[in-house]
Amino acid sequence: MIGKDLGLAIDFLKKGEVVGIPTETVYGLAANALNKDAVLSVFEIKNRPHFDPLIIHLPNFESIVQYTINHDKRVQLLAEQLMPGPLTLLLHKNDKIPYLVTSGSEKVACRIPQHPLSIELLKQLDFPLAAPSANPFGYISPTKAIHVEQQLGDKIPYILDGGECMVGIESTIIDCTTPKFEILRLGGCSIETIEQCLGEKVILNLNLNSNPKAPGQLDKHYSPRTPMKLVNDFKSYNNKEQKRVAFLTFGNENLEHMGFQLNLSASANLSEAAKNLFDMMRQLDEMNFDLIVSKLLPEHGIGLAVNDRLKRASIVE
Ligand code: TXA
Ligand code: MG
Repeated sequence: MIGKDLGLAIDFLKKGEVVGIPTETVYGLAANALNKDAVLSVFEIKNRPHFDPLIIHLPNFESIVQYTINHDKRVQLLAEQLMPGPLTLLLHKNDKIPYLVTSGSEKVACRIPQHPLSIELLKQLDFPLAAPSANPFGYISPTKAIHVEQQLGDKIPYILDGGECMVGIESTIIDCTTPKFEILRLGGCSIETIEQCLGEKVILNLNLNSNPKAPGQLDKHYSPRTPMKLVNDFKSYNNKEQKRVAFLTFGNENLEHMGFQLNLSASANLSEAAKNLFDMMRQLDEMNFDLIVSKLLPEHGIGLAVNDRLKRASIVE
């Protein structure tokens, strides 16, 4: 059931049930992070492997401090300037956080979502919410309550509707336990913004490998069922095999004579493109084309995160 009843969401969460919640990035599949049975249900509902840890969500930095230890001074800077927001800090956990949440790691990923409804929800709970994106493992993340309803609606009692996600792409994950902080996942908070805040460079640790530090680094991820292909230039795409093709474009590009087209941002705005990305990928997936053809965006700001998702969605296994 979809609704806007905060009290009902709170009741379900207190009972150890799993609830769909809005954030500014994507919708989450939330449960009491301190209740192991509730956390286990999240893994089951999402069909997520247990080696892939969950982010905990809290209403403010003071509450993050209650579940973590050994903060580097720079953590305070990030928290003060960029949180709440689309940034997740990887910190040393204390023993209040079950290893089930962190998949056995001593580090826990912490985030303060910038969404009025979820902040209010978190303030009224006396436990953090463990919440992965509310999609089946490997599929595109949901940016509207209806996306959650369509895929997981029969498995959870309630989805709190907070409207369309304003950022539309997952949070940036930064490991704050290493001498130089490391970006483990590109996301809604740009590298430029983080480096400006810290006054120093960060390390990009986004290696596509089979033993990832953050499994969002798994090669194929965030993908529609329809195969995707990236091209350098749409106009030179040669549809030799006469496939039913859809184009996912950016900026001033008119391809309607070549096939169906959705435009991430006609005005070439990177934030607008990020906001539209997953919703448009879903729309195209539902139309059952043979192929979705897209192109990388300019490699700066949130464009880097969009490109990361486009690349992972188009990997051929
Ligand atoms: O924007 C977001 O971050 C959304 C919203 C719902 O908050 N959440 C989200 O969660 O994207 P999820 O589970 O789909 O992706 C979390 C990523 C995974 O790649 C996971 O491996 C990584 O964070 N992660 C979580 N805890 C970790 C840990 N202790 N160490 C390393 N990576 C961790
Ligand atoms: Mg996810």
